[in-house]
Amino acid sequence: MDVAQRLQRIPPYPFREIAMLKAKLLAEGKQILDFGIGDPDMPTPDFVIEALCEAAQDPSTHQYDESGYGIPEYKQAVADFAKKRFGIEVNPEGEIQSLIGAKEALAHIVWAYIDPSDVVLVPDPAYAVFKVQTTWCGGNAVPMALRVENDFLPDLGSIPARVAEAAKIMFLNYPNNPTGAVAPLEFYEEAVRFARDNEILIVQDAAYVEVSFDEAPCHSILEVDGAKDVAIEMHSFSKTFNMTGWRLGWAMGGAEYIDALSKVKSNVDSGTFMAIQRAGIAALARYDEWHPQLIAEYQRRRDALVEGLNSLGWSLEKPRGTFYVWAPVPPSFASSAEFTHALLNDCGILTTPGTAYGTTGEGYVRFSLTIPAEDKLCQIQQAVANIRQNMPDLWA
Ligand SMILES: Cc1ncc(COP(=O)(O)O)c(C=O)c1O
Repeated sequence: MDVAQRLQRIPPYPFREIAMLKAKLLAEGKQILDFGIGDPDMPTPDFVIEALCEAAQDPSTHQYDESGYGIPEYKQAVADFAKKRFGIEVNPEGEIQSLIGAKEALAHIVWAYIDPSDVVLVPDPAYAVFKVQTTWCGGNAVPMALRVENDFLPDLGSIPARVAEAAKIMFLNYPNNPTGAVAPLEFYEEAVRFARDNEILIVQDAAYVEVSFDEAPCHSILEVDGAKDVAIEMHSFSKTFNMTGWRLGWAMGGAEYIDALSKVKSNVDSGTFMAIQRAGIAALARYDEWHPQLIAEYQRRRDALVEGLNSLGWSLEKPRGTFYVWAPVPPSFASSAEFTHALLNDCGILTTPGTAYGTTGEGYVRFSLTIPAEDKLCQIQQAVANIRQNMPDLWA
């Protein structure tokens, strides 16, 4: 049977070809240095697992979370965290929604607001969910190019007035996947002004907000005065506590936006397992002690990879956030796809072509610092050595 047209309209899965090549090389007994997928390779902290085990023993966690928005203790823990971490007041009653990870909320908020032919401003390159969901709702995804010369921030001033006026949602994602850029508070101030002037809802994807380096903790857009009037922000435990498989996050923002999201969710899912919400409370309670270790490990990997690539001729700045390195394709290669294939075939290095994130991603490849190998630094050094040996004329 034919799948629905909406499914047929999605472009072919960009990683499929690479995954097939990877499988072929592995079958031939080749070693693969995997910088592909962005999924934390380190385990969830013990104190979170212990909290889950304890909560799962309590039968009162076994039923639907009928609150719809999250259990009161969870929402309070999130509000306390937001106050401590970002200095903001978020009302646990009405301004917070528990999530099954950030991804579902990024999808569901589109279903809450977008009708056929509505305009959505979507960064390019970006996480695919923004555009796919817009397209599924019949909306018109208008790309906002993220370029190095603008620190990978969208140039809001270059958006034509008629597009800005027509737009209903603007997606942002900082720290940014795939570029590793972070957003200064001044940018969020500009974005809030822009949204207010044009009656746009900002959906800020903060999945990586806790992965930032060099003592530059990232901001929440809600730190901007009046942001709740125009913004909702999605947060996640996935990257902060190595909990991608657990599916836990929260949305915070203006009550009307939380309410609309909640209405969609209540028709699609039945909330987050209450024991997992309790584990989330335990995670947030020990954030201060856990977080420096996490960042130190990614910083060590980031520094080794960036310094290694720079020793080969790149002139990369160290990314300020996320666990990705967004590296330009050397001029001796015609495209991201060609370079990605050469890295895999000639050097055994798996990366992601920039075009997997949008057309503006052409000319880049993404290295993920989530490394499944036992010795992380050893894999990074091996990758640099392989490129040095097998691609001698890289920058010629
Ligand atoms: C930019 C971005 N947003 C959201 C997510 C999804 O996060 P979660 O696991 O909380 O659904 C990811 C996952 O890789 C991501 O890269």
